[in-house]
Amino acid sequence: MLRFLLNDKLINFSPSQADLTVLDYLREHKKLTGSKEGCASGDCGACTVVLAELNENSKLRYRAINSCITFMSALQGKQLITVEQLSQDGTLHPVQQSMVEHHGSQCGFCTPGFIMSMFALYHQTGQPDRNAVTHALSGNLCRCTGYRPIIDATLHACSNKQSDHFKQNEQHIIQQLQNVKRSENNNSQLLTPQSRESLKNAILTYPTAPLFAGSTDLALQVTQQLKQFERLISLSHVPELQQLVIQDKGLLIGAALPFSDIEQSLLKYFPSLNELISRFASLPIRNQATLGGNVANASPIGDMPPVLLALNATIHLDNGETRRTVPVADFFLDYRVTAMQPGEWIEGIFLPYLSSNSHLQAYKVSKRMEDDISAVCAVFHLQLDENKVASLSCGLGGVAATPASIELESVLLGKTWSDAATFELGSTLLNGSFQPIDDVRATKEYRQQILLNLWRRFWLETNTHTRAIATRVVQLNVEAGHA
Ligand code: FES
Ligand code: FES
Repeated sequence: MLRFLLNDKLINFSPSQADLTVLDYLREHKKLTGSKEGCASGDCGACTVVLAELNENSKLRYRAINSCITFMSALQGKQLITVEQLSQDGTLHPVQQSMVEHHGSQCGFCTPGFIMSMFALYHQTGQPDRNAVTHALSGNLCRCTGYRPIIDATLHACSNKQSDHFKQNEQHIIQQLQNVKRSENNNSQLLTPQSRESLKNAILTYPTAPLFAGSTDLALQVTQQLKQFERLISLSHVPELQQLVIQDKGLLIGAALPFSDIEQSLLKYFPSLNELISRFASLPIRNQATLGGNVANASPIGDMPPVLLALNATIHLDNGETRRTVPVADFFLDYRVTAMQPGEWIEGIFLPYLSSNSHLQAYKVSKRMEDDISAVCAVFHLQLDENKVASLSCGLGGVAATPASIELESVLLGKTWSDAATFELGSTLLNGSFQPIDDVRATKEYRQQILLNLWRRFWLETNTHTRAIATRVVQLNVEAGHA
């Protein structure tokens, strides 16, 4: 039985289908049809709802999520807030009122989703600037109004915050969630183990049941391929998978932590990942998607595996009896095949810190800036010792059947980095090592050329005497609309 709050009502619900999505639950079971279905794949935001949950200080944290690709287990112990709950006694919520006043809605199909993203932002502390607003709305598409009035409406509402009925009712909700949080779910279709031991037993009992955390990828098989899962096991309630540990030598990131919970730490220790991280999907996706999921599904175009390869990260695996670590370079075996054994799950991912002579750069090339899958992703990690290559590693996406790497270091070790011959040697290696495929995102030739261009860019950007030229080249490319 799952226990959660639907708006202000306590719900005990035992889904008869493991793969029931929150959107279908709302629209079909509860007849709450304010949340819309547009794409059913996490791309348009028409289905956006807000989850409120207790944080470590027993305060409420509000997050926008895509209900179309969220399974019901995500609600366990939380408050699900839908657009129907926002107005009170005929008075619109301030974000709704602001949307009216700024003419932010025409056909209205996207509007409930925008309103919920605005509502989540309204409940963050501080006053957001325009960048924060566009970030908060990055998962919502509007096809007729245009974004300017919607952004204006959001800025206006968030700069004139008042205490709404959610704020006034907060203590009551906190108390209810504290009670609900302690309850166990014993549904045998949708399992939500809450300890390492019970996760091990769940997998032993149902060895073929897929494991999931954020469900942003797995749910697509339900909504896009109409696949049915008789049984699913959620990893999101096991404490070991929810930790972020700052260790002496690096970060150990729990596999089931939502990406939005780890990005500040990633940026603190790996600031040059800023652009890649800011382009890792939309905010509602980041509120659910996990690093463990990004690694476990072994997609050749996932955003984070190239970073992990370039950093020589290690994957921590567990089966409930034995823990082991695998270097990420040995983890991806073939297309969507990993080194995980039956019964194992990813517990965490360890990222070693950079050293003072490290240069790490990550490049993602995709058709759109936001919320898009890369055609090519290249991450290079160089350590220099007085302009000589002391170590060099890379991680590449979109050039092979798995996230890939190539032994640049063995050939370039000790070479003078600023020599053009060093760059040429690397180019020759990169040029002959991969056979990318043609697909809807890019042709094989484009991928090969982009890979070489990114290598050139990295070489230029990390050479002090060529940095000024590189900056100009990048400016020219941006002006011309190239990578
Ligand atoms: Fe488009 Fe959910 S319906 S994101
Ligand atoms: Fe029509 Fe946004 S108002 S899609």
